[in-house]
Amino acid sequence: MQIAIDGPAGAGKSSIAKSLAKELGILYLDTGAMYRAVGYKAMKLGIDTLNEEKVSAMMDDIEIKVIYSETGQHIILDGTDITEHIREPEVSINASNASKHRKVRDKLVAMQQEIAKETDVVAEGRDIGTYVLPEAEYKFYITASAEERAKRRHKELCEKGKNTDIEKLAEEIKARDYQDMNREYAPLKAAEDSVLIDTTNLNFDEVLSLILDTIKDKGKRNESN
Ligand code: DC
Repeated sequence: MQIAIDGPAGAGKSSIAKSLAKELGILYLDTGAMYRAVGYKAMKLGIDTLNEEKVSAMMDDIEIKVIYSETGQHIILDGTDITEHIREPEVSINASNASKHRKVRDKLVAMQQEIAKETDVVAEGRDIGTYVLPEAEYKFYITASAEERAKRRHKELCEKGKNTDIEKLAEEIKARDYQDMNREYAPLKAAEDSVLIDTTNLNFDEVLSLILDTIKDKGKRNESN
């Protein structure tokens, strides 16, 4: 079983995909974490992530491993677990910059397809339904207004004791949306056969039920055909 979940930054894809995978007892693959590893390494090396030549050269000397433990998915970069370090806003924009480059995408997409070949998966990202797993049985595109996404992110950060400017968060989200939707290779867009879910006015449980119901309905229809 392959389930693709795509959508813009901060729409709640990760928590939904994680719960869905748990509910179905299958693997949760967070593909954004892999792009974050690339952005993180470039940052550490002082490489401008918009510089395609330099980032592409770096891809010849990078080892990214995705492993799973009781605490979920971990990203091992060149032998070090960097899972804890890749959620900073600075890494987000560098991941988005690096993800524009063909060599980065080719390498990471191949890894993602390899993982999904071996096991049932809920894969979450930007191009899962369109490029990574175009044959996925179930595809969802989850979105919400930029303002709502900034509000949720603000709340999340406040709960962690980090005070941020909500307007600035909205600007960052919009900049990343623009870049992810307008890049040349595999831009963020809803697959034609995906189910679109706008979560602006929906809570977590409502979104999860909607997805589970869609999966069950489609499963029943397939059985009766
Ligand atoms: O899902 P995320 O916010 O952790 O992803 C970080 C960046 O990685 C995102 O801005 C664009 C890129 N990305 C991508 O290009 N393709 C994916 N399948 C997942 C993420």
